[in-house]
Amino acid sequence: MSPILCLDDFEEAARAFLPPVFQYIAGAAETNASLAGNRSSFDRYRFVPRVLVDVTHRSTSAPLLGETYAAPFGIAPLGLSALFAYRGDIVMAQAAAQHDVPMIMSGSSLIRLEEVITVNPRAWFQAYLPGDMGQIEALLDRVAAARFQTLVVTVDTPVAANRENNARAGFTTPLRPTPRLAWQGVTRPQWLFGTFLKTIARHGVPHFENNYATRGAPILSKHVLRDFSDRGHLTWKHFCAIRRHWKGKLVIKGVLHADDARAAADAGADGIIVSNHGGRQLDGAASPLDVLPSILAVRTGLPVMLDGGVRRGTDALKALALGASFVFVGRPFGYATAVGGLPGLNDALGLLKEEISRDMAMLGIRGLVIDALRERVIQAH
Ligand code: GLV
Repeated sequence: MSPILCLDDFEEAARAFLPPVFQYIAGAAETNASLAGNRSSFDRYRFVPRVLVDVTHRSTSAPLLGETYAAPFGIAPLGLSALFAYRGDIVMAQAAAQHDVPMIMSGSSLIRLEEVITVNPRAWFQAYLPGDMGQIEALLDRVAAARFQTLVVTVDTPVAANRENNARAGFTTPLRPTPRLAWQGVTRPQWLFGTFLKTIARHGVPHFENNYATRGAPILSKHVLRDFSDRGHLTWKHFCAIRRHWKGKLVIKGVLHADDARAAADAGADGIIVSNHGGRQLDGAASPLDVLPSILAVRTGLPVMLDGGVRRGTDALKALALGASFVFVGRPFGYATAVGGLPGLNDALGLLKEEISRDMAMLGIRGLVIDALRERVIQAH
């Protein structure tokens, strides 16, 4: 295997290790335009470092929602983590606790949320809203009873996205037991034995555990349809009702328009994640970095976080320089967990933190202070 020197290297390792669930992680919607745009948006900015500053003592720590974390990035929610990595959500929660960074557990997950919070009491929970208020409240009650303090509500999924690349790769949820699927498993023996069969032997067939208050569909099934169908009628009224019901911190994820940032603040959100869902929903949706200035111009006073395309310390620093409070990284941390388990993910988190610290030194900054960052970033022409 080639050496792992940066986050992108985990993607190549995961491509060789995983069956088509790789495509579930890697792919986005339709033409992958937003996926590519998220990366290229960072290239429109360049640094103007300051020199001969004493940077011996540097801190990458960053405040967010009343806490201080060791670095300005966290683990974005990743669906199906326990399918591509053995006990994926647990590993991510553990690594986040060890590195003192936030981890957002996906609602599209296969391990009960109650189990995940036991290994990291500071983990956040991301919900895909069920279709009616009764079901929503039952889910919120369950999340609150488990003692999650921060709830992330994803709002960019009124309907299921068009993930053609998943269909072409033969990846469906639930997985259909077909000869093609069996062959795909057999040709990835390390994943088959070390992740999939080990999971089934020790924990049974995984089910969607956290979309509702009650257990959902199994991951492997001939017939069951995963319920993605019933969110199109949800509006700000539902979000306001969630705000009334949920007593913890409430973060809205999937905002790209400044007026929606204003609406989120008016509805009582505690934070906003500017996101196009890693390019996985509306293909052609604007890059979070490109819309960030317009969202900050609304001056809601809320922390504005960003995900999408962050792969380098320099990306994180550019986002912070433009005014983001924090960034979240998804796919690379998923790949690292898949191929390397806890040590793999710890390496990934360490690599990104080291890059940020090294870049800070070369920029001539000791701490993540917005004014100092802002004056060191320009738009490239
Ligand atoms: C979430 O579950 C996703 O696949 O984007």
